[in-house]
Amino acid sequence: MTSLIKTLTSFGITGWLAFLAIAILFYILIFYYKYFTRENPLPGPFPLPVVGSLYQNPGHFAKWIQDLHKKYGDMFEIWIGSQRQIWLNNAELIAKTTLTSLNTAFIIRYSHDSGLEEWGDTTGIGFNRVPWSWRYNRRLVNDAVNSLSFLKEFTGMMQRGFGELETYWKEIGLDKPQDIQLWVNRFISDMLYITTTGKNVKFMAKHFNSLSTDKKVELSTTMRLHSTAPIMFRTNNERTEVGGFSWKPDTQFGVNFQSVHHSSDLWKDADKFIPERHLLSDKDLKRKFYPFGGGLHICPGRLFGTALLKTLVVVFFRKYNVELENPNTPIRTSHDFTLHSHDAIVRLSPRITTNKKM
Ligand code: HEM
Repeated sequence: MTSLIKTLTSFGITGWLAFLAIAILFYILIFYYKYFTRENPLPGPFPLPVVGSLYQNPGHFAKWIQDLHKKYGDMFEIWIGSQRQIWLNNAELIAKTTLTSLNTAFIIRYSHDSGLEEWGDTTGIGFNRVPWSWRYNRRLVNDAVNSLSFLKEFTGMMQRGFGELETYWKEIGLDKPQDIQLWVNRFISDMLYITTTGKNVKFMAKHFNSLSTDKKVELSTTMRLHSTAPIMFRTNNERTEVGGFSWKPDTQFGVNFQSVHHSSDLWKDADKFIPERHLLSDKDLKRKFYPFGGGLHICPGRLFGTALLKTLVVVFFRKYNVELENPNTPIRTSHDFTLHSHDAIVRLSPRITTNKKM
């Protein structure tokens, strides 16, 4: 032991710096060896060691993926650190990753990641890499949130919760601009806590208290009532063919639902707000509409989430008019796992209803 310490200290600062330089050089050599010998090279931004292609990310991952889609086409690759990701950006390419059969190669969402494993979050649903345990957990959630009696009770709870929200708004004064995003987030959190734990943690009440004591709070309002997941991930548990190439097991694929939703090949006037198009049958929407993802990993909370949003929209718009303070200013968004909107300032006014008897 002492002789080892002696040897290490005998290196001196120059020796250690030289050692570090050699280690870094080796890391770079291995990184680029892996890069230049990768199977099925695809177009994409040139990666740098340690950060991969992330040095080009403008800070909004989903938007970056859209820009890369425009630049590199329907199938491209990026590197997140030393992990290679293959991005699939049209309906045909993602079809295989969203099959509902258990025979699919795409049962797992994320490829092996020792960091994730160390973090210990590989036992639930989203990050789980063990198919039987993922299916078991998923079934539990499914059964819990998708029963009719639960959904009915939940709708009643939403109405009561909205009544509570209104008392706070009246107290603050409806003529004042409201930060809808903050209220809606707290409303949804209160509802989810009550339904999942039976406890009312009173996020709305706490927010109201903070507003009444902190007069400096700048109220910026956002209109979006929901956040969604524009992109998702899948990995293959066996060698499989996608986009005309054969991919080794555990390749990380990115699935760009957003591109499919905006594809002019699939949607007429793709970027226009045309609600009627959703009167199409499920068959027409299949393979081009993925608000809750698709395939084996499709969101198990989709009925619950839809009930939550519909009830919120109904109880809200039945009683209030909402006007954007700056209708010409685009709403700012950010993206982590889901898309969030910010700074959409609105004014509320009570909706006047005439209740004439015929
Ligand atoms: C409107 C609200 C919601 C939206 C838009 C939404 C959207 C999504 C999306 C896009 C996915 C990824 C699916 C895929 O990989 O293909 C997902 C997964 C998931 N969602 Fe939701 N979700 C919502 C509400 C909920 C709620 C209320 C719950 C809880 C009960 C929930 C639980 C989950 C779970 C556990 C997964 C992972 C499923 C798996 O990997 O097997 N979601 N959701």
